[in-house]
Amino acid sequence: MFVLRLAVVGSMLAGVSLQAEQAPGEPPAGPGLELIQRSCVSCHDIYMITSKRKTPEQWAEVMDLMSARGAEVTPEEMQIIEEYLSRNYSASKH
Ligand code: HEC
Repeated sequence: MFVLRLAVVGSMLAGVSLQAEQAPGEPPAGPGLELIQRSCVSCHDIYMITSKRKTPEQWAEVMDLMSARGAEVTPEEMQIIEEYLSRNYSASKH
């Protein structure tokens, strides 16, 4: 599933210039991303997450909400995802 998704994203990006250090819309690597790929994309696309900009408080709310909806994450993993999202998708650094 993970590999399949990467292949899909790869082919989608094939027509796009990859000269930038990080292609626009491509989530930065990190342990948070791995957890998101594992636990957060079964119900919706990762774009549902990475298109958003939120404060750490708002990301914490999202984590509570998604875990209530059925996302399979431990409290430790929630913390890691929350930090990852707050760092990379912060409402304050547009
Ligand atoms: C059990 C299914 C399910 C899983 C697993 C899940 N989500 Fe969601 N998520 C939803 C649904 C349904 C919506 C759309 C609800 C809505 O319109 O607000 C949503 C919407 C969202 C949104 C947009 C809502 C907003 O307030 O901006 C974000 C961000 C999000 N999810 C993040 C995550 C993250 C991060 C994870 C992994 C921890 C995750 N989701 C896992 C079901 C899920």
